[in-house]
Amino acid sequence: MALAIMSSGGDAPGMNPAIKKFVDYTHKKGEESYLIYDGLEGLIDNKIKKASHKIVAGIIHNGGTIIRSSRSKRFFEHEYRQKAFDNLKAHNITGLVVLGGDGSFRAMEKFSSEFDLNFVGIPSTIDNDIYGTEYCLGVDTALNVIRDALDKIRDTATSFNRAFLVEVMGRDCGYLAIVSSMISGAEVCVIPEVPFNPKSLEKRLKKEVKEGRNYILAIVAEGTKKTSEVHSWLQDSFGLETRVSILGHIQRGGNPTVYDRMMAFDFTIIAVDHLLTHTDSSKVVVYQKGDFKLLDIKEVVSNKYMMPQHYLDAINYLD
Ligand code: F6P
Repeated sequence: MALAIMSSGGDAPGMNPAIKKFVDYTHKKGEESYLIYDGLEGLIDNKIKKASHKIVAGIIHNGGTIIRSSRSKRFFEHEYRQKAFDNLKAHNITGLVVLGGDGSFRAMEKFSSEFDLNFVGIPSTIDNDIYGTEYCLGVDTALNVIRDALDKIRDTATSFNRAFLVEVMGRDCGYLAIVSSMISGAEVCVIPEVPFNPKSLEKRLKKEVKEGRNYILAIVAEGTKKTSEVHSWLQDSFGLETRVSILGHIQRGGNPTVYDRMMAFDFTIIAVDHLLTHTDSSKVVVYQKGDFKLLDIKEVVSNKYMMPQHYLDAINYLD
């Protein structure tokens, strides 16, 4: 048998440990492994190379992905999916692991509905927005990058009479925003899942400012598109000079944390074991209640990730 791995869509810390484990574990099982470079674009263009221990040596601690990634428009046209399938066949690849997010899994669902594929997806996105799994590779590292930035912003915030607004990534999901606001004790958190209605919060914060509070920290998820509205609200309601930091792509970088490395190993072993014992599956490995299982790709892409209720309850303008 010959298995291949690729990364697709936004890169995420944890992809490199997954690639390393994939090669080592496949070889341990006595099978061949291939690396597909540049994601779905590379699959179309036949950028497929036989893997070796040497290629994956010394990568476990690095963020990003050594096999690079892409967002492919061409893959949404049948003629390019046919090319991609022909390339897999030409290398006698019998199973494919895809490290990717929601968009990549949609593409894989389309691909597997047309061709005889054997593939397993590993949820890999800092957004943590994939249905059926409580965890996606990269989230812990991204949260630690955000935590580090927020701790530093607090240092300067406590030294001045100011409000600070920090915009975090997450696409249409507020997971990064809500968790980072919980662990940093931010006064305000705005996420796409909950309409921003700051009436009672405004009243409470105004009272606190009057009694001596000299700074406010607000975290806004990019998916709300409310950064400038919240900025004006902070300035106008509290009379505090307000500074905005958009953390941007630094949230996608950094050495994978211990947790991301361990999760990468577990996700990968489950994926490889499944591919070695099946011939025509289209699955995604998911993490639920401390355990791993495989869900049909159809189920994963046709449902929406829902944020756990106890996280939503932490939004402090709901009271
Ligand atoms: O999906 C990961 C992510 O970093 C999102 O949080 C963000 O909205 C998007 O990718 C940014 O995409 P790009 O790197 O293409 O600008």
